[in-house]
This record gives sequence, structure tokens and C-alpha cells, in this order.
Amino acid sequence: MAVNQDACGDGRQTEHADYQILAEQMKALAEGVDWEISNLANASALLYQVLSDLNWAGFYLYQDGKLVLGPFQGRTACTVISMGRGVCGTAAAADRTVIVADVHQFPGHIACDSASNSEIVIPVHRDGRLYGVLDIDSPVFNRFSEEDRAGLELFVKVLETEIL
Ligand code: SME
Repeated sequence: MAVNQDACGDGRQTEHADYQILAEQMKALAEGVDWEISNLANASALLYQVLSDLNWAGFYLYQDGKLVLGPFQGRTACTVISMGRGVCGTAAAADRTVIVADVHQFPGHIACDSASNSEIVIPVHRDGRLYGVLDIDSPVFNRFSEEDRAGLELFVKVLETEIL
């Protein structure tokens, strides 16, 4: 289990994932597996299993100039997102990680699951070009810290350099 529990300053219990272990687990799961959809399916399942307080974790893949739904864990989701729309489209168009502490304050947020209150989206690349985004949603406001950003960017780097 790649998670340690401790109390944060406001008395709320939070869990800090060990992202190094998570990256190693991902490499082990993908070893010898050449099917990218299988690897992305296991990546979303691993994140959803290990990280605390999530209601959705998965991929949108960049195809024909838009983002289309890829492997994920969670409730059914919208199938197509235009570039620049919502948090996913914003992260993809700007090609940078976007953390949203309160999705209800984000102009154009696409509410696939009304349980979502905060979100992080990380662009994924293959051969130096945009491949898609990793989208992770939480029912907890302000769920994603700078530590999560660094850890999830490391996770995506493993996908980009060793798996995709
Ligand atoms: N939250 C996303 C839409 C996708 S669902 O959350 C799975 C967005 O606004 O980009």
C-alpha cells in the first residue's frame, strides 16, 4: 500500500501517497504489456485504488483535435471535450498541469459527476506531442496539493517514457 495517513493542520485526516512506490507499481504492472489501452486501464485502476478521496480517475485521449474518453474508474463521463473547454480542455490547450481547488468556481467546468468538488489534470505526451490528459477528481475541496502535482507528474513521466 503506497499510502501513509497523518493529520493535517486543520484536523482533517489526509493521506499522503508515496508516489515513488506508485510509479514503481505502474512499471511492474506494465512490464511486458504492449497494449496501451490495457496499460492505461491499469493506470487508472491503480490511481483510483491507492489515492484517497477520489470519485474519478482516468484518461481523455487527444484525437482529431479533441479529447475523447479513454480508460477510467468512476461514474460514466462525457465522451468528447473540445480543446480549451472545461478543466481537461484548458490543461490540454495550455499543455500544463491544472489544479482546481473548487470546480464550482472554474468557468466552463464540465460536471460529469456532481460529487466532484476539486480536480487535477495533467497533460500526457508521446513522441513529444500531446497524447491526452490524466484527469483525477475528488469530492473533497482542495484535495490536490503541490506534493500531489509533483507525484502525479512523475507518474505521467513514467507512462510517457516507459509505457506509451
Ligand atoms: N471535469 C472535467 C470533465 C471530465 S469529468 O470530470 C470526468 C472537466 O471539466 O474538464
